[in-house]
Amino acid sequence: MTKQTWSQRFETALHPAITLFNASIGFDIELIEYDITGSIAHAKMLGKTGIISVAEASTLVQGLEQIRQEYREGKFQPGVEAEDVHFAVEKRLTELVGDAGKKLHTARSRNDQVGTDTRLYLKDQIGQIQVLVRGFQQVLLDLAEANVETLIPGYTHLQRAQPISLAHHLLAYFEMLQRDWERLGDVLKRVDISPLGCGALAGTTFPIDRHYSAELLGFGDVYRNSLDGVSDRDFAIEFTAAASLIMVHLSRLAEEVTLWSSQEFSFVTLKDSCATGSSIMPQKKNPDVPELVRGKTGRVFGHLQGLLVLMKGLPLAYNKDLQEDKEALFDTVKTIKVCVEAMTILLAEGLEFQPARLHEAVNEDFSNATDVADYLATKGVPFREAYNLVGKVVKTSMAAGKLLKDLTLAEWQELHPAFESDIYGAIAPQQVVAARNSYGGTGFIRVRESIEAAKERIN
Ligand code: ARG
Repeated sequence: MTKQTWSQRFETALHPAITLFNASIGFDIELIEYDITGSIAHAKMLGKTGIISVAEASTLVQGLEQIRQEYREGKFQPGVEAEDVHFAVEKRLTELVGDAGKKLHTARSRNDQVGTDTRLYLKDQIGQIQVLVRGFQQVLLDLAEANVETLIPGYTHLQRAQPISLAHHLLAYFEMLQRDWERLGDVLKRVDISPLGCGALAGTTFPIDRHYSAELLGFGDVYRNSLDGVSDRDFAIEFTAAASLIMVHLSRLAEEVTLWSSQEFSFVTLKDSCATGSSIMPQKKNPDVPELVRGKTGRVFGHLQGLLVLMKGLPLAYNKDLQEDKEALFDTVKTIKVCVEAMTILLAEGLEFQPARLHEAVNEDFSNATDVADYLATKGVPFREAYNLVGKVVKTSMAAGKLLKDLTLAEWQELHPAFESDIYGAIAPQQVVAARNSYGGTGFIRVRESIEAAKERIN
C-alpha cells in the first residue's frame, strides 16, 4: 500500500477498498487535457505575479506540455493509486521536472481546479454539440427542400387531421433544434466563468491574478464569490436540462420514424445501412436506430434528476459528493453526441419516404373535411353551422363507403345549395395544403419562405 499525496498527519495508508471507492481517476481521466491546460494557465499566472519565478513557471509549462504529449501517445496511463486526474498530473510533473513541480499547486486547491477543468471540458463539448446540431438541421433542411409538395397526413391525437407538406413536418423539428442550439449558447454563458483562484473555499493569501488566468483560459468572466465558485454546479444542471430537451426532440422524431416504418404506416422504408435484422424472424427489418435514441433519452433525463438531487442538500462549500457530477455529465455529453449523429445519418441516408403510399394516405380519408366547412364559410355560411353539416356528410359518406371526393355535385347541392363544382378543387389534398397560407402554416408558399429563412438563420 502506498501513502497518499496528503499531508503527513496521516499515519497509515488508505484501506485498499476505500482507495478504490474514493478514486475518480477511472472516469475523470476524461478531463486530463483540460487539467493540463488549466495548470498551464495557473503556472503562468504564478510566474507573472512573482509568486514563483518566471523560470520556474516555464519549467512547469514545459513539463505539463510533455505530460500532454505522453498522454496522447498512450505513454501516460495513471492508475488508481493516483486517486484523481489532478494528483496524477501533479505527481508526473514532479517526476519530470523535480522540485519545481511541487510549486504548481501554490495558491490553488483541487476544488477550484476541478471546477475549472469541468468548465473547460463543457465549453469545448457544447461547441462540438452545437456543430452536430447544426449538421442535423442542415439534413432536415435538405430533406424539406426536396419535399415541399410531398404530402403526408397531419395528425392530432394520432388521428388523421389535415394533410400537410412533408417539408412543413420536417421543419417543425428544425425549429425545435434551433431552440436547442440557442439554448446551448445561453447555457454556455454560465459555463464560461472561471472559478480558478477561489482556492479551497475562501480565496488565498497569495497575490494571485484571477483575471489573468481566466483570460489565458478564454473565460468570459470570473466567479465573484469564492464559496460559490468552488461549489456551484448550476452550469452542469443547466447543460443537462438543455441536453434533456434535445433528447425530447430527437426522441419524438425517433418515435415518428419508428411508426412510419411499421407495416401499418409504411410511410418510409429503412435502408439496410440503418436497419437491423431479427435473429429469429427472417422477414424483419427493425428500426433499432430510432428505438435506441428513444431509449437513451431516459438516461439523460436520469442524469438531470441525479444532478438536481446531488445538489439539493449540500452545505457550502465543496463536498466530496460533487465528485459524482462527472459521470452524469460525461455520459450526457457522450449520449447526446452519438444520438444527434445517429439521427443525422438516419435522416440523411437511412430512410426513404414512400411517395405512392403517402399519396394514398392523404387521398383516401376524410382529412379534407375542415376544408369543406371552410368552403361553406367563405360562401357566407356561419362556420359552426358548416361544421355541423360536414359532420353529417362525413357520417353518411362513411356509411355509404364513399369519400368526400366521390360525392356527385347533385349530392353536394342536396346537402347545401352553396356547393358548386369548384368544391372538388377545394378539397383536393394538394389544393387543401396549398391554401393554408397563413403565417406559419403549411401552404407551399409559406413553406418555401420558411426554408429560405431557415438557410439564413443557420448561416
Ligand atoms: N476528484 C475530486 C472531485 O472530482 C477533486 C476535488 C477533490 N477535493 C477535495 N477536497 N477532496 O470532486
